[in-house]
Amino acid sequence: MLSFPVQIRITQSNRASASIANVKFMDHQQQTHYDFVSQVFHWVTAMLVLAAFILGPEHFGRLIKQGVDPATRIDIVWHETLGVFVLVLTVLRLIWAALRSGTPQPLMSPWMQITGKLVHRALWVLLLVLPLTAWLALASEGIPLTLLGGLQIEQIPLVNASGISALTDWGDLHQLLGDAILWLAGFHAAAAIYHHVVLKDGVLKAMLPR
Ligand code: HEM
Ligand code: HEM
Repeated sequence: MLSFPVQIRITQSNRASASIANVKFMDHQQQTHYDFVSQVFHWVTAMLVLAAFILGPEHFGRLIKQGVDPATRIDIVWHETLGVFVLVLTVLRLIWAALRSGTPQPLMSPWMQITGKLVHRALWVLLLVLPLTAWLALASEGIPLTLLGGLQIEQIPLVNASGISALTDWGDLHQLLGDAILWLAGFHAAAAIYHHVVLKDGVLKAMLPR
């Protein structure tokens, strides 16, 4: 006797969860735009990386040898502040990327999809590794990191003791990766414009507000 109402309840809840699953599936299929938070992260990061690149300190080693204190050079302080900001934003952005419900999946040939994914992965890696190599460069030289507002972070003592500083010239590596991110982002931007102008699909629009 008791089984009848119980069965109805089970059937209704099954239907409800099936329709929730359907809605989620359709949402994912029809998602045409990145969510607003992902868009803000993307464009703010792109602007910060460009600004950091423009302010990249030339002849840093020579300045240090001449006894110039990097904390007195506003371009260097801005460069380091922007770079640290990029690192903080990238960590928050990765957390957001893990939590969001999905990203648009525009139809395109498999090789384009694979290339797109590889380029995104490489950009994510560079966004994390670039500031870290800079920090290792400063720590290897025993130079504190100076941020806007006069905030100084002393060198990491462990870096020298562990021999990490002797592994490579971290400053040279940082410069190389700084150039690499600009080239890769340039290629990535050119591909987005090609999608928009030639293929006329929704790839670029996906990263723009509706
Ligand atoms: C998105 C982040 C960053 C980009 C795109 C970037 C880019 C660059 C580039 C292109 C150079 C070479 C400049 C030239 O030779 O003309 C450079 C040098 C340098 N950057 Fe960055 N940078 C970033 C983050 C940082 C951060 C977070 C710091 C500090 C913690 C920093 C500190 C330095 C230092 C000290 C140099 C001189 C390195 C040397 O010559 O030994 N950078 N950066
Ligand atoms: C330093 C500059 C840039 C960096 C580091 C960068 C990085 C990235 C990353 C990591 C993603 C994946 C986003 C996510 O999963 O949330 C992405 C997507 C995207 N970016 Fe950029 N980007 C830069 C500049 C640009 C520029 C200048 C454009 C356009 C002219 C652009 C257009 C796009 C588009 C359309 C997508 C979505 C593509 C897709 O879903 O296949 N990006 N970008």
